[in-house]
Amino acid sequence: MIIAIDGPAASGKSTTSRGVATRMGITYLDTGAMYRAITLGLMEHGVSFKALGSITEFLDTVNIYFGDSNSGNKIFLNDRSVTDQIRSSTVTEKVSEVSAINVVRDSMVQIQREIADNTDCVLEGRDIGTVVFPNADFKFFLVAGLEIRALRRQKDLNKIGEKKTIDEIKADIRLRDELDTNRDNSPLLKAKDAIEIDTGLLTVDEQIDKIVSIIKQ
Ligand code: CDP
Repeated sequence: MIIAIDGPAASGKSTTSRGVATRMGITYLDTGAMYRAITLGLMEHGVSFKALGSITEFLDTVNIYFGDSNSGNKIFLNDRSVTDQIRSSTVTEKVSEVSAINVVRDSMVQIQREIADNTDCVLEGRDIGTVVFPNADFKFFLVAGLEIRALRRQKDLNKIGEKKTIDEIKADIRLRDELDTNRDNSPLLKAKDAIEIDTGLLTVDEQIDKIVSIIKQ
């Protein structure tokens, strides 16, 4: 079974997807974390986002995997946990540029399909219901108002010791949504058959309950 959960930045995808996967006892795959890890790796290796040859070489040699796919707790880049580092503003500011690169998407989508072809899985991202698994058993598209999303993201940043104003965060979210929506390859888009859920109107438990009850119906 494939459950696709897509939506814009900070719309509540991670918390909801992880909760749904735990309740259902199936694998959780955070595809955004993969694009973030590649962004971090390219930056650390000083690879220009325009140098397609070097990017391809990096993708051919890099090893990305999740430490515990059920809880989705840790992501590893070449055997090093980069779980907190990929949430930093430095990575967040660049990830949309990297995720728009065709060779990066091809490589990540291949890994995502390999993982989910072999197991029941909740995948969260931007293009899961439209491109990665257009025949997913269930598709959800999460949305929430900008103010709520910015407040959530501020809490996440506080946890890793970063301080940003709500206005700065709103600007970051707006820019990232714009880049993700307007790219040519696999843009952020609600699949025609996806069920839209406004997470601004619900508690985390209610969001999870709603999705699980739709799946179990
Ligand atoms: O958690 P947040 O909403 O901040 O974003 P994320 O899910 O961690 O994704 C980070 C970035 O990766 C997005 O802004 C997209 O540029 C990219 N992404 C993508 O292109 N396709 C996906 N399936 C997932 C993420």
